[in-house]
Formats: sequence, structure tokens, C-alpha cells
Amino acid sequence: MIRKRVAVLISGRGSNMTALIEAAKDKDYPAEIALVVSNRADALGLESARNAGVPTEIVDHAVYGKNRSEFEAVLDDVLKEHRIELICLAGFMRLLTDEFVTRWSGRMLNIHPALLPSFKGLDTHERALAGGVKIHGASVHFVVPEMDSGPIVAQGAVAVHEDDTPTTLAARVLAVEHRIYPFALRLLAEGRIRIEHGRCVLIGTAARADSALIVPSARA
Ligand code: GAR
Repeated sequence: MIRKRVAVLISGRGSNMTALIEAAKDKDYPAEIALVVSNRADALGLESARNAGVPTEIVDHAVYGKNRSEFEAVLDDVLKEHRIELICLAGFMRLLTDEFVTRWSGRMLNIHPALLPSFKGLDTHERALAGGVKIHGASVHFVVPEMDSGPIVAQGAVAVHEDDTPTTLAARVLAVEHRIYPFALRLLAEGRIRIEHGRCVLIGTAARADSALIVPSARA
């Protein structure tokens, strides 16, 4: 099996990155985490990546000021150098230009801490609680120029508890994130996703309706 070479882009803690690295330790996993890139030198995840023996690069956005194209040109060089085929954004808190996103169309995933298309953007857990929703969760989706709007590959749901705070809810959602991201990357790396009319269609065994979905029990 030829494994797809994946770069994980992070800005902080990197727990989703670690979940992907762990999944890729399985020799049957169809992707290899070949590179971790951070736009911040102080991202905690860099240390975890190094400890796991994954090559790391820092492309500091601050060096390029408002010039996103220059930042991305350097990022592109780094990705090329490491022969990267797929990108996973994992808590990467920079917006990418339409040009970059279009170039990686169908080859770049993001994880978002909400059940899209609800709660795009930031502070998703605060807004979910303020909105009084009973169910919340996380989504893995393809990246398209419009933020948090690409075809959804997988989602995981959690029940919202009456005594939840943004912190307790975030922790419950994060556990689900760590399950759906490796699953979604597997589907992409195995070529089991087709995009039709802007939506993901799963192929073969992946097409079982329940396979891209994690549903909570009322008490979970
Ligand atoms: C995760 O909850 C991820 O869904 C979120 O940031 C966190 C990163 O945690 N991403 C976004 O909010 C993207 N807009 P991690 O660094 O431990 O993976």
C-alpha cells in the first residue's frame, strides 16, 4: 500500500494532530503524517510532533505581516519540499487565500468544533450554549474559499447537558473530534469520497449511511 503523504497544519495545542499521528501508526492506515507545520513557533503541538518523530516546520505568519500570498508561497515551498499530497488543518487559526484553497481543492480537510452548517466561525461552544441547543458536535469538511462551508465528510454529535459550561462542552466535543478526524482522513486517502453537487458522496463500504456519523446516547 502506498500511503498518502499528509501535512497537518496547527496553531496551538495539537490534540487533533496527535489523534492523526496515532491513527497513522497503524500500518494499514492509508496515510502517513509526513509533516507538521505551525504558523506559531510557540505552538504546544510542535513538541508533541517532535516527540512522535514527525518532521516539523514553522512558517511564522507575523514575519509576512498582512501579505498572505507571501506567507503562502513559503508554505507552498515547505509542502513541496516534503512532497505533501493532502493537508489537514487542525486548529490552524489563519485564513488561507482563495488561490491557495483552490489549488488544494479536494485535497485539504478542516475540523470545526460544531455541527455545520450551524455555528461557523469562532466561539462555537459559547454560542451553542447561548442558543440552547440540545445537541452539538464537530464536523470534518473539505476546505473551500468560503469559511467553514465545504462539503462535510464526517460529523460527530454530543448531547448538551444542562450544567455544561463552554469548557465542559468543548472537552466532550474534542473527544469526538479525535474520532472523526482520523476516520475522515482515512476515507479521503483511500479515495472513497466523491463530491457531487457540492456534497460528499461516500463510495463502497464507506457509503453505509451510519459510517460517517457518531451519535450520542442521551447520557453521553
Ligand atoms: C479544535 O477544537 C478544533 O476543532 C478547533 O480548534 C481546536 C484545536 O485543538 N478549530 C477551530 O476552531 C477552527 N476554526 P487542537 O489544537 O488540540 O487540535
